[in-house]
Amino acid sequence: MSHGNLNRELWSSRIGVIFAVMGSAVGLGNFLRFPGQAAQHDIAAFMVAYFISLLIMGLPLALAEWAMGRYGGVRGFCSAPGVFRVITGRPGGAYLGLLGVLIPMVIFQYYVVIEAWCLGYALRYFSGQVITSDIAKDHFVKFTGQAGDGLLFGGGSPLLWLVVACFVLNLGLVYFGIRRGIELTCKVGVPLLMLLSIVLVVRILTLGTPNPEFPERNVMNALGRMWNPGGTEAFWNSLMNPGMWLSAAGQIFFSLSVGFGVVITYASYVRHNEDIVLSGTTAVAGNEFCEVALGGMLTLPAAFLFLGAAVPLGSAMGLGFVALPGLFAMLPMGHIFGGLFFLLLFLAALTSSLSMIQPAVAFFEEGLGVSRKVAIVLVCAICSAGTGIVIYFSGDLKALDTMDFWVGTFCIFLLALIQTIVFGWVLGSKRAWKELRRGAALKVPRVLLFVLKFITPLVLIAVFLLWVHQEFFNFGTEGLHLGRLTQLANDRTVQIAFGWIILVVCILALCIHLAVERWKQEDRRK
Ligand code: ALA
Repeated sequence: MSHGNLNRELWSSRIGVIFAVMGSAVGLGNFLRFPGQAAQHDIAAFMVAYFISLLIMGLPLALAEWAMGRYGGVRGFCSAPGVFRVITGRPGGAYLGLLGVLIPMVIFQYYVVIEAWCLGYALRYFSGQVITSDIAKDHFVKFTGQAGDGLLFGGGSPLLWLVVACFVLNLGLVYFGIRRGIELTCKVGVPLLMLLSIVLVVRILTLGTPNPEFPERNVMNALGRMWNPGGTEAFWNSLMNPGMWLSAAGQIFFSLSVGFGVVITYASYVRHNEDIVLSGTTAVAGNEFCEVALGGMLTLPAAFLFLGAAVPLGSAMGLGFVALPGLFAMLPMGHIFGGLFFLLLFLAALTSSLSMIQPAVAFFEEGLGVSRKVAIVLVCAICSAGTGIVIYFSGDLKALDTMDFWVGTFCIFLLALIQTIVFGWVLGSKRAWKELRRGAALKVPRVLLFVLKFITPLVLIAVFLLWVHQEFFNFGTEGLHLGRLTQLANDRTVQIAFGWIILVVCILALCIHLAVERWKQEDRRK
């Protein structure tokens, strides 16, 4: 079988790859999605489901991705199609990797828009303008164009230009390469965002009772809103609720960037003997620290201090972009703290969005044999069309929501399942075990292989079926509820966003076909 690029660029150091993978993981999911999801359930039950999902799905899958990435990388392949082709030993194996390019590339198309929201808010705060609570909602709706389609093209909001700026920044940094672009950005960005979040957590926790008119809105109650369990009955009721397990598992995947195809690509740039168990576990632990210890102490407690028990839990976006500005408006130097908070979100989003471009760039380079520059132009062309759809169909954020549902949830479960099967069953126990242990200073417990081969796929299938049942085939009191399928059948914007995803699938399938033919020719030449 042909060798890919054996002279691929490598990370300059272990700390570099750990920061890069942590940068990919620590994102909006940690500071917005996690507190929003956790607080909707009994927190003790949610954290049980969350840590079980981490132990039997998140961590094992992350290590499997690291191992498969390094396996492909030392053979010269850095994208999921190339890596899966090498692992399966069959040209057609490359098609199994389609989702590993599709998922990051499509998530990038809407994630970059949210990144631009954060940049816009940060710039506004740093320019000295606070957003008072009476205008926070209107400002958010107007700024993001939620009142109707096409509004962002009318010049009423600077968002379009901020998205262009974020696009250029992301593609430019990826263009600089693995070391000078991605690694350097994450080596600066990740410590900086951790520092920012510690500063903000300290500020929030020392606020006491910021508004004396509402003595119950104090720091202890704010932490209690996020962290107090509801008692034995609430605990057991939540634990029996499949919806909560789905939220917890989905949060683990989204937050760790596992099941995205990103870790496979990043891990392909490590050396043959890199200690992937140590690096992988450190990156997972770092993400969990940022999520639970920092994210869980920040957004929701801060929103509670301003809104009290009325704090909105339904939408993570509402929490960050509507509830928190109210608190910043109340604080002395609120514009600085507001600016720091949105800068933190922007940095977290940037180090994650970078990682969503690289898998497609790596695939076009190795699959189509084009230069990095051409690969970036191709990614830019496809992503700008998708982002254009998200920006144009901004009414109720419906296009964004559709892409997030079908790709950011549905496809992630599918790819995670494909990955465990390829690792545990196709690579096989012997090779998988050898691959995991090579260079590992820590003793890898053998039970990990058992978990990866049997437990993770079984739990994933169960979670996936539950999810499909909950979203599409739910028999309620009014009969069969088809949920998103009904929306897909009736809503034009949803159809356009869904159609776009299918078109990207077709483009990628064609590119994989071309890549497979090209690799076959290389094989014949040898
Ligand atoms: N892992 C990234 C996040 O949490 C995508 O936002």
